[in-house]
Amino acid sequence: MINSELLILIISTFLIVFSIRYVIRIWQLPPGPWGLPLIGYLPWIGRKPCVTFLGLKKKYGNLITVNLGGITMLVLNDWNAIKATLIDRKHHFSGRPNAYISDTITGRKDMALSDGPVCLQQRKIMVNCMRKIGLGKKSMEDSIMEPIHELIDILSNYNNKNMEMTTIFLKPTQQILWKLVSGHKLKDEDLEKFSNELDYFMKTCRPHHPVNMMPILRYIPPNGFGYKVVVNFSKSVRNYLQPIIQQHLIERNKSTDRDFIDLYLDQIEEMSKTSASCPPYDVEHLMGSLWDIFIAGTETSNTLSRWTFLYMAIFPQVQQKIQTEIDLIVGENRIPTLDDMPQLRYLQATIMEICRHSSLVPLSLPHRTIAPVEVCGFKIPAKMTVIPNIYSVNYDTNLWKNPHEFDPKRFLDKDNNIKCPPHFIPFSVGSRMCIGESVAEMEIRLILGCLLQKFNFSLPKGQPEPTLEAVVGVVYKPLPYSLHITKRFVN
Ligand code: HEM
Repeated sequence: MINSELLILIISTFLIVFSIRYVIRIWQLPPGPWGLPLIGYLPWIGRKPCVTFLGLKKKYGNLITVNLGGITMLVLNDWNAIKATLIDRKHHFSGRPNAYISDTITGRKDMALSDGPVCLQQRKIMVNCMRKIGLGKKSMEDSIMEPIHELIDILSNYNNKNMEMTTIFLKPTQQILWKLVSGHKLKDEDLEKFSNELDYFMKTCRPHHPVNMMPILRYIPPNGFGYKVVVNFSKSVRNYLQPIIQQHLIERNKSTDRDFIDLYLDQIEEMSKTSASCPPYDVEHLMGSLWDIFIAGTETSNTLSRWTFLYMAIFPQVQQKIQTEIDLIVGENRIPTLDDMPQLRYLQATIMEICRHSSLVPLSLPHRTIAPVEVCGFKIPAKMTVIPNIYSVNYDTNLWKNPHEFDPKRFLDKDNNIKCPPHFIPFSVGSRMCIGESVAEMEIRLILGCLLQKFNFSLPKGQPEPTLEAVVGVVYKPLPYSLHITKRFVN
């Protein structure tokens, strides 16, 4: 009898202490909307979570707590919140949350979806290798130009015709990156296979995917809410990468034409001389790094190109202005080069405005706190998932005049110089910001400059006008559209 009373007393004390601690914890967090048990605020999240979060700002402020499918998340809902966390407390906010799907696929041996000291070291190695092969530098211009010339040839065959633009930029953007990373050209059949599956992967890998919330759901037929498809995709990418790494191990050329894989293998070799090779200095982490570049680098650049030419057709006056600038600075007898870019300021400003207005990665990638931290008077615990709402920054009326208007001039000052405010953050900010920014910028500037020099892009007559509505995923993409292509000069 005494024993059962004691047991009840222990359990009740435990429950009371647990409940008090839970309430105190919730109390110290930023405010946010209530939701239903288990699924939280999911039923109200809407088609575009970035817009829903922005809508909650009026009631709850710029830092909000929201529960999505049992995961309590901190949403950074304006520039001040992003600055106070990802910049001012960048170390505390440098983690990545665990997510069942991506963790199973990568084993947290990649860099982009991992955290901790090994991951930070891996990031340094990746940035170092990318710098050495010249990613984002003038020396890689030739490698970029080859696929762009192929693109010009394809478009020339469409003179005075309509062209479906959904896949046209995929090949050049993938080829550019992949050649520099692996020394290989992707075969057309691999390219097509990967691009379809990559699309599906990007839609599935969101933090509040049902399988991330309840891993048991991966057994539900027919394919475990898409889980089986992405696992198979990751296997085919692995099977594709493995022989490439193997070949590099056998044929490593230490003198010329070094690619990313060669340089990473050098680092592994170097480390194994000084101590036993250890993470991230092993082949599994090299595989993870290639996976990151493959996933993070191709979808984003391809989508930015697709947005760019859609904006060109919808805003023909902007297109014309860029062409006038190109005609003046470059002329028609030679192709625009990277050296011309500093003078092609309206072109640069237009790309910046497309990045802002389209908000192509509107919720960035999720972060997590790696230790407890105080921000703006709130106590944020360790291991809390953090969602930076880049869209909320892009459409903040305190930061931009008429943010819904598409106006490249906002990025030019009165002397026509580029004006880049600190809150322009399409590649995010802080210790986990994108490592491919300079490559992506270089690619899109050359693609836009070279194609607008040679062609006019307009909306096809008699077809419904394309909209700027987006297909929602980690990367927001334009809906499929076609454009009418005409050559600007006879030859
Ligand atoms: C228009 C093109 C691109 C955009 C808008 C973009 C945007 C982003 C954003 C918003 C993040 C999340 C940063 C964060 O979590 O704070 C990111 C991460 C990343 N991006 Fe990009 N990206 C682009 C192109 C590329 C390219 C071409 C590469 C490859 C060379 C690349 C590689 C990566 C990697 C590896 C990460 C993870 C960084 C980390 O976790 O530390 N991205 N990108």
